[in-house]
Amino acid sequence: MARIVKHEKKLPVAIEEKDAKFPIYLCACGLSSSFPYCDGSHDRAKDEAENAIYIYDKDKRIKL
Ligand code: FES
Repeated sequence: MARIVKHEKKLPVAIEEKDAKFPIYLCACGLSSSFPYCDGSHDRAKDEAENAIYIYDKDKRIKL
């Protein structure tokens, strides 16, 4: 089964906990292999064109 999910964010969401030394970064781009946590894979999306649609797999991306 395959599923297409639209993600428009290119950076993670930082969650600040009261007594934690560091924030937790949650993936908002949809590309993390450690979802729901950010693993830095959002770098693959940093040069996306506005209003374009991309399909990603683990090795490549296709611009539609
Ligand atoms: S926001 Fe998705 S990997 Fe960082």
